[in-house]
Amino acid sequence: MEALAYLFVYSLLLSLLRSSITLDTITPSQPIRDGDTLVSADRSFQLGFFSPASSKSRYMGIWYLVSSEIVVWVANRDTPLNDHLGVLRITYEGVLVLLNSTNSTVWSSNTSRTPEIPVAQLLDTGNLVVKDGNFDDPGNFLWQSFDHPCDTLLPEMKLGKNLVTGLERFLSSWKSIEDPAQGVFSVRIDPRGLPQFVVMEGAAIKYRVGPWNGLTFSGNPALRPNPIFNYTFVLNENEVYYENSLLNSSVFSRFVLNPSGIAERFTWIDRTHSWQRFLAGQLDQCENYGFCGAYTTCNPNNSPICACFEGFEPKSERNWNSNDWSDGCVRRTPLECNDGDGFLKWTKLKLPDTSSSWYNKTTNLKECGGLCLKNCSCTAYSNLDVRGEGSGCLLWFGSLTDIRVFSEGGQELYLKLAKSELDRIEKKKQPSKIKQASIIGSVILVTGIIILGVIAYIRKNRLHSKGMSKRIDKKDWDNEGWNEDMELPTFDLTAIANATDNFSSNNKLGEGGFGPVYKGTLDGQVIAVKRLSKNSGQGSKEFKNEVQSIARLQHRNLVKLLGCCIQEDEKMLVYEYMPNKSLDFFIFDQTKSKLLDWLTRMNIIGGIARGLLYLHEDSRLRIIHRDLKASNILLDNNMNPKISDFGLARSFGGDEVECMTNRIVGTYGYMSPEYAVHGQYSIKSDVFSFGVLVLEIVSGKKNRGFCDPDHNLNLLGHAWRLWVEDRPMGLVDESVGESISQSEVLRCIQVGLLCVQHNPEDRPNMSSVLLMLSSESLLHKPRQPGFYTDSRRTDYSSSEHATYSANEISTTSFGPR
Ligand SMILES: *[C@@H]1O[C@H](CO)[C@@H](O)[C@H](O)[C@H]1NC(C)=O
Ligand SMILES: *[C@@H]1O[C@H](CO)[C@@H](O)[C@H](O)[C@H]1NC(C)=O
Ligand SMILES: *[C@@H]1O[C@H](CO)[C@@H](O)[C@H](O)[C@H]1NC(C)=O
Ligand SMILES: *[C@@H]1O[C@H](CO)[C@@H](O)[C@H](O)[C@H]1NC(C)=O
Ligand SMILES: *[C@@H]1O[C@H](CO)[C@@H](O)[C@H](O)[C@H]1NC(C)=O
Ligand SMILES: *[C@@H]1O[C@H](CO)[C@@H](O)[C@H](O)[C@H]1NC(C)=O
Ligand SMILES: *[C@@H]1O[C@H](CO)[C@@H](O)[C@H](O)[C@H]1NC(C)=O
Repeated sequence: MEALAYLFVYSLLLSLLRSSITLDTITPSQPIRDGDTLVSADRSFQLGFFSPASSKSRYMGIWYLVSSEIVVWVANRDTPLNDHLGVLRITYEGVLVLLNSTNSTVWSSNTSRTPEIPVAQLLDTGNLVVKDGNFDDPGNFLWQSFDHPCDTLLPEMKLGKNLVTGLERFLSSWKSIEDPAQGVFSVRIDPRGLPQFVVMEGAAIKYRVGPWNGLTFSGNPALRPNPIFNYTFVLNENEVYYENSLLNSSVFSRFVLNPSGIAERFTWIDRTHSWQRFLAGQLDQCENYGFCGAYTTCNPNNSPICACFEGFEPKSERNWNSNDWSDGCVRRTPLECNDGDGFLKWTKLKLPDTSSSWYNKTTNLKECGGLCLKNCSCTAYSNLDVRGEGSGCLLWFGSLTDIRVFSEGGQELYLKLAKSELDRIEKKKQPSKIKQASIIGSVILVTGIIILGVIAYIRKNRLHSKGMSKRIDKKDWDNEGWNEDMELPTFDLTAIANATDNFSSNNKLGEGGFGPVYKGTLDGQVIAVKRLSKNSGQGSKEFKNEVQSIARLQHRNLVKLLGCCIQEDEKMLVYEYMPNKSLDFFIFDQTKSKLLDWLTRMNIIGGIARGLLYLHEDSRLRIIHRDLKASNILLDNNMNPKISDFGLARSFGGDEVECMTNRIVGTYGYMSPEYAVHGQYSIKSDVFSFGVLVLEIVSGKKNRGFCDPDHNLNLLGHAWRLWVEDRPMGLVDESVGESISQSEVLRCIQVGLLCVQHNPEDRPNMSSVLLMLSSESLLHKPRQPGFYTDSRRTDYSSSEHATYSANEISTTSFGPR
């Protein structure tokens, strides 16, 4: 017995002390033990045993040699080893077997034939192949890991289905970052109808990227020719698949489905030795499969975001009005199913779900419409391929679902309607008075360009009578950065003076960072005018920046800029008016905070997150707000939040993730440590401010000026302490009342704490924040927040912070450099 134990310890020691070896092939006489590795000829990829994150289980997998934490494939994902005694062998039959310490097979490959010389090799693409001898012809492969993907799609790997053999290659998520076992999410090409790219949760579609339209997937116009990889989609009788290839094989790029079901692409940046991330979808509610129900369009920039197609009405008026759109819409007039029907053309759409569709690559669009008219259950048609003039025919049968509207790009769809309905729509489209006026206006304008004297006259008149024009006066500022189709109305100074009763103190709404804000009424529309103080820090440079940034940004959670005015030394911005003032007005007030029940607070948090995500990632420019705080969150009639004041936002180019600034702008209490102390700002500084806001919304307390009889901590410190002491619910504002959902509250607090973590890299980005808020998935444990100590001391011992005064208002001061 004892001898056996010694033997065991001895062999264990032996295996641990044995120096590891690096191989380039596995042969029957040359297995791979734990500690040994197999590398590809170009040294891109490595195969060996590993343990993910803090797990102790051993797996055999493939990773990048430059970035060994990124595992792209796992053999025994569902059958881990629990010691370091595993070994991978190839049998003389050409089967790879992974054996545990008692020589039992825990995983194996298979093969259809017995090779003469069985060899396993890791190719430069990251593909582990079993082949006969040393022939690298893919036809010679007896087995390959690329046929059995895990969560990562590598270049040269096919995603899709072989329609002849039935082999389906799809990605499936890991259960968690510690457990590579097959999770609930998968990415597949759904072969029903016209095949489409989908992300699934179990057996249900979670997010539909859509069918291929010749250029890209219908729901992903962002997939464009790029310098990193090219891509192709193949659809024929034998197979359907998507595949991409690297244009420069010394660059790495991978597409991965993470454990929360988000598909992301990462590209290795050699210079920074890190992965740059591109989100591949799931950015807004419209991407939740079928969010708005049948016969609707989803447009994230509209409020409400769901709308019936013209000629349709909500199936249940009551549910629809309470923002439950899942029932969708129904026809107002039934189809006649003969020549009495016609089509209405829609543009800029993501095509409806094609799982019950039919297609023909050679039928043209006109014949296509004819085919659709002939079959009563056909509801719509479109081109199959949008390249050039468009070609092919795609017909839908049954109801149309999961359609969204893009602001640019998107496709055409011909929707079948009864003739009488088409007539009615036609009649409604008669140009309205306003349209006529603007048409006449623009005719005058064109003439005006020729007769300069006239233009001045018209402009003056129009601005006086209408208050607004859809035109930029380029001569008002030099036009760098503006493009021709940008429309920003300019207002006349006297019109604004009249609207605000000559900037009377009665009309003053408040004092923002750079000057007072006035309420006004212009042509019956209530507006808010931000009058920039002449001695404010905001020079014409900042002003231009603000105007340009805001004019380009349109989102339901951002305050809308209606126009601007630059005249004499006045600079003003005209915004839509928000009747409910700002968030600080509610949450920090004992009586008013009772108006904000938990649901409203959740809605506010979600809205701010979506607005910020738009600023950071969705908008064409990437904008950092830099002064996010409760008084910059305005509330509309329905208490929907809208972020205001982008005066401090700086747009920056795609690559720059972090900038140094020599001027610190922001508000103490919301500023991240790296920004306040070192003047370093990045989107993660905004995430920090967002975290502070979340904790303020949950607690009803200000971070700055928070005081607790027990300690000197600020709100962040207080929240952290409660969290560490495992009583986070102690943070919740009593005014929230009874209606709270404990799990949601806890989730919010945890997300808030994750956002205010000291280290910017630890903070999530806004897309992860949104997902964390809306899903049930497990969250990371937060680390200690930045600035968590009392409000007079910071967790930086540097003396630099001493120069900052502790005040609530926005400050503009010169930083350390
Ligand atoms: C496992 O197989 C190897 C090689 O065939 C052999 O040397 C070893 O004794 C076996 N171990 C056990 C526990 O059966
Ligand atoms: C090896 O695998 C077999 C079969 O899965 C299992 O019964 C056995 O307990 C494993 N041995 C060890 C040491 O894990
Ligand atoms: C290999 O195994 C997979 C899964 O068990 C099976 O679907 C496939 O048909 C097998 N291939 C061969 C060539 O035996
Ligand atoms: C992608 O680029 C590679 C390398 O330049 C080329 O071999 C391949 O044919 C291209 N594929 C497509 C679909 O354009
Ligand atoms: C490929 O990328 C490497 C490293 O980024 C670069 O040095 C090389 O010039 C590139 N090759 C081509 C053909 O672009
Ligand atoms: C597709 O259309 C072409 C011509 O319009 C026709 O010849 C062909 O049979 C059609 N294919 C199918 C599968 O219906
Ligand atoms: C209409 O199309 C559906 C779906 O392709 C088909 O099942 C049905 O037979 C067609 N009806 C007629 C009248 O052609």
